[in-house]
Amino acid sequence: MTMEIFRERRSIRKYEDRPVEDEKLQAVLEAACLAPSWANMQCWAFIVIKDSAKRQEISTILGNNPSARAVAAAPILIVACADPEKSGKANEQAYYMLDIGIAVQQLCLEAFNQGLGTVWLGWFDEEKVRQALEVPDNIRIVAMTPLGYPARHPEFTGRRPVEESVFNEKWGNR
Ligand SMILES: Cc1cc2nc3c(=O)[nH]c(=O)nc-3n(C[C@H](O)[C@H](O)[C@H](O)COP(=O)(O)O)c2cc1C
Repeated sequence: MTMEIFRERRSIRKYEDRPVEDEKLQAVLEAACLAPSWANMQCWAFIVIKDSAKRQEISTILGNNPSARAVAAAPILIVACADPEKSGKANEQAYYMLDIGIAVQQLCLEAFNQGLGTVWLGWFDEEKVRQALEVPDNIRIVAMTPLGYPARHPEFTGRRPVEESVFNEKWGNR
């Protein structure tokens, strides 16, 4: 079942004009909040936006492209935020990005499990989104995804063969 979810999940950029049931929304949010995190500090906060004018405003910030249009079209937009002070810093790596990454991916996989679509959106003007959603300056806006029923199941985007991604025993050894 898990492998099927990994194999069949797609980034969805076209959505049906159909609402999402509250129980399904709750399930995907719960999946996100069950994620592991640095010292279990759970640095995340998720802004759930249903208001179509607000989704349109965010869509305009994203520009004129398929993912921006998806933000306007899907019935829900979820914006994933992090408080970096509630996560670790080690080896010059900021672990709030990982905390949010895991949580958002859990959200996306549970959405697929519920028959819903998502698409990770990581590229946007953070300051404009901050203003639109009144996010405080100490909070980072890491990702967002539309949530809704997919209008189609896109083709697999493909991956490198596993052997190309794996070394044995030491770097470079295939
Ligand atoms: C961290 C991250 C950021 C991403 N940012 C964007 C984005 O800004 N816009 C977009 O259209 N897709 C974005 N994507 C989606 C990827 O393009 C997509 O996952 C990849 O092409 C593989 O396709 P698939 O998800 O259908 O398997 C992002 C994905 C990840 C993991």
